[in-house]
Amino acid sequence: MTLAKNALPENLPCSFVIFGATGNLASNKLLPALYHLEAAARLSESLSLIAFSRRAWTTESWREHMREVLAERIKGPLDTPVFERFIARFSYLQGDLNDVESYRTLAARLPPESACSATVFYLAIKPSEFSAVIENLEVVGLNKPRGMNRVVIEKPFGEDIESAQRLNRLLHLHFDEEQVYRIDHFLGKETVQNLLVFRFANTLIEPLWNRNFIDHVQITVAESIGIEKRADYYDRAGALRDMLQNHLMQLLTVVAMEPPPALEADALRDEKVKVLRSIRPITKRAVHAHAVRAQYARGSIDGQSVLGYQQEANVEPNSTTETFVAAKFYIDNWRWRGVPFYLRTGKRLAKQTSLIAIRFRHPPQQLFRETPVESIDPNWILLSIQPEESMRMEIHVKQPGLDMDTRVMQMNASFRKTDEQTLDAYETLLLDVIEGDRSLFIRFDEVEWAWRVVDPILKHWAVEREYIPTYAAGSWGPADANRLFDSDDQNWRNEP
Ligand code: BG6
Repeated sequence: MTLAKNALPENLPCSFVIFGATGNLASNKLLPALYHLEAAARLSESLSLIAFSRRAWTTESWREHMREVLAERIKGPLDTPVFERFIARFSYLQGDLNDVESYRTLAARLPPESACSATVFYLAIKPSEFSAVIENLEVVGLNKPRGMNRVVIEKPFGEDIESAQRLNRLLHLHFDEEQVYRIDHFLGKETVQNLLVFRFANTLIEPLWNRNFIDHVQITVAESIGIEKRADYYDRAGALRDMLQNHLMQLLTVVAMEPPPALEADALRDEKVKVLRSIRPITKRAVHAHAVRAQYARGSIDGQSVLGYQQEANVEPNSTTETFVAAKFYIDNWRWRGVPFYLRTGKRLAKQTSLIAIRFRHPPQQLFRETPVESIDPNWILLSIQPEESMRMEIHVKQPGLDMDTRVMQMNASFRKTDEQTLDAYETLLLDVIEGDRSLFIRFDEVEWAWRVVDPILKHWAVEREYIPTYAAGSWGPADANRLFDSDDQNWRNEP
């Protein structure tokens, strides 16, 4: 979704370079998304794609690889004319990220500046390789034209506040801020964008969206998948860095932010930063009360037995990396003071599901005391991000019959009609990069404030590395996550 139509035709890139073209991210997300954009006729005719990777492949072997990758991952069967059009845009470049000669070859392959205004460089590589690419692009002059050539950086942006600042300084040494696209693909998900519409286009909702009516907010991103051959990255990162500091924090900001004055990149980001700045810092002594971590042990998912984290390939023996994290935050501003935000995410949980669940307060008056209505459950608004994209509201109605009894009904405001296609977040975001719209990308102060919020937890856990509690794969995580709740009637909500 392009929020602001600020892309000028002369800014449209005519080259899109994927560093790490044979890696997981490119295969799982970028190539299928670009193919879908091709199928939807959203790629300009003049756009050429360059696949940069270390493997000694020819353009022919790349073509074969693409056929396999796409056949496995796209929606529906491969459409031959679309595939032919798409593959014709590609050239394969065997190169070494650390060798400046590879960048010279790349530069020679790009059209001359006069013929083309912009190139996108997508860093689908390990964070440890970011600096080599940024510096080498500068050495061969590909950081210019300033303000035109774009560099796309995936999360994690740094591994703590200091390293994030270092990476940012390096980027700014060679690129202007408007050339930098820091991606958090959760912002490209349809429900997340729809949350803005739900909140700010419905007069009905916004007056209730505050501490007077809302009891607490839960944000769950549960994954049934494990670490999928990513141990070298994940074992150093863990769930807090991999998911909570970025994806879950971004969801929190969109739920909690004030209406921006305009749907423009900086107006939106200003409001998100205000939320992050208002989060009450967690003191060293309060870390235990605010955060829970755990690691998956053997278990079973969908009837299949699965390994524990420590048995996964390439995980350090006795690793205490967390694969589950739950945390509680308070936002000290007029709208949210006193309302707990509970966040949790984990690998190898019972289901693959992401849900924002908002629980309202109990009605103040016990009108039904003298009737068979035993207790009135509070209302919920449930915003399901995946696998289903929906918005439901739980309200009470009287059960038809002679007695005064109630039941909970869900009003389902699912916004997708059955014949409407589901977009992957990357389709939206890649199109935004191409069109030069940065609204759904992260500004550095957001990254920095999000690190500041989780920093006390990271520091505390860094010195407590001898032991980590476990949870059975296929469960909803450790029972210990319940201790975060402020009151006995609060419980994790697993289903929309
Ligand atoms: C990535 C994390 O950013 O997001 C992965 O590194 C995680 O660990 C993934 O699995 C989840 O994204 P999605 O869109 O598949 O839910």
